[in-house]
Amino acid sequence: MASTTLEIPEARRIPRHIAIIMDGNGRWAKQRFFPRIAGHRRGVEAVRNVVRACIERGVDYLTLFAFSSENWRRPPDEVSFLMQLFVSALEQEVEKLHENGVRFRVIGELDRFEPKLTRLIREAEARTSKNRKLNLTIAANYGGRWDILQAVTRMLRERPELASGFSERDLTPYLALGDAPEPDLFIRTGGEQRISNFMLWQLAYTELYFTDVLWPDFDAAVLDRAIVSYQQRERRFGRTSEQLPGGAGVPVYQAQDVGDAG
Ligand code: IPE
Ligand code: IPE
Ligand code: MG
Repeated sequence: MASTTLEIPEARRIPRHIAIIMDGNGRWAKQRFFPRIAGHRRGVEAVRNVVRACIERGVDYLTLFAFSSENWRRPPDEVSFLMQLFVSALEQEVEKLHENGVRFRVIGELDRFEPKLTRLIREAEARTSKNRKLNLTIAANYGGRWDILQAVTRMLRERPELASGFSERDLTPYLALGDAPEPDLFIRTGGEQRISNFMLWQLAYTELYFTDVLWPDFDAAVLDRAIVSYQQRERRFGRTSEQLPGGAGVPVYQAQDVGDAG
């Protein structure tokens, strides 16, 4: 993984990696006097739309937070509905993802899922493993702290000599998504301005974008607003403005049409 604390990533107008906390399904449903699960169902449609939009815009990696390590605290009925929804989404969508050149992966502690769900996940990962158009990763039973702990544990098991000290470069290959660039753009829908234990390590230099739009209402237009905001940021990675390519005070990314990839 290219580490933003060790190397400065190449400036691109379209973020290479977008990570999203898909929040607000319950509130979307509540506003309509629907049960919370109706919001989750609509949320799957929003996922379909954002995947398509990311392919069209030339995004390389899209990582979506679907279920956190802490979401087990929800009412059992809601948790089991979410698991069923995951199963049916896999059954219905994987072939289409494959046809569209999407590489599908899941990060998180899969042991806690039912065997059927784990099997569907493994099959989908194997089926799409050679695809390169878009790397779609679903974070499920994922937590940023879990990720760091499992990485350290696996690293020390394989390389016990590192117990006396190790570097970022030693650790990063063991993190979930250790082979991906760190996210350039983080989006959270639903109005909360917090990270909720999402990719704690990898968000070190990510540009953060928060929107009040509820996840079931997320579409290409909202994605484009986030990308335009990203293009107006000056990503300094610790340097001064004057040191940036393009000179003093000139944003690295100029706001332009978001349509073309590059
Ligand atoms: C996000 O929507 C989906 C999951 C966390 C599974 P929420 O279900 O958290 O919706 P709100 O925040 O209650 O509106
Ligand atoms: C974060 O949403 C996790 C996912 C979207 C999967 P939550 O709705 O669980 O977050 P909190 O509890 O409001 O921080
Ligand atoms: Mg929520």
